[in-house]
Amino acid sequence: MALLEKTAALSVAYTAIDEDHAEFINLLNALDMATNADFPALFQHLYEHTEQHFERENVLMTRSAYAGITDHKAEHQRVLGEFKQFKSRVDKGLISFGRAFIKDRLPQWLVLHVTTMDTALATHLNNQPPS
Ligand SMILES: [Fe+2]
Ligand SMILES: [Fe+2]
Repeated sequence: MALLEKTAALSVAYTAIDEDHAEFINLLNALDMATNADFPALFQHLYEHTEQHFERENVLMTRSAYAGITDHKAEHQRVLGEFKQFKSRVDKGLISFGRAFIKDRLPQWLVLHVTTMDTALATHLNNQPPS
């Protein structure tokens, strides 16, 4: 069974954001199934993808003068900081720390973040007048 399923409940109805979340879930599920040999490179890949995904949302917030930008950006920064700590452990060969982060932390975090902050952002973006 996949660690996290892509469900309609996780759609924010904004394509660019939904695509990033679908890829995040793909990588999370691949990491859950990865061998110890494959784990570090995939973990690095998810880290880089997450940096880019957050940056794309940050740009959307800036461009649309989103009122919730400070809190949302701070949450992205906080999670990246946490991610970096686990990445440095994985880079030292401590794969089990990375596996715990993938299994017990990121799925729950993603569901909460998508259904709250990202959904609020998507609603704001979808209500923008066409430029
Ligand atoms: Fe997101
Ligand atoms: Fe976000």
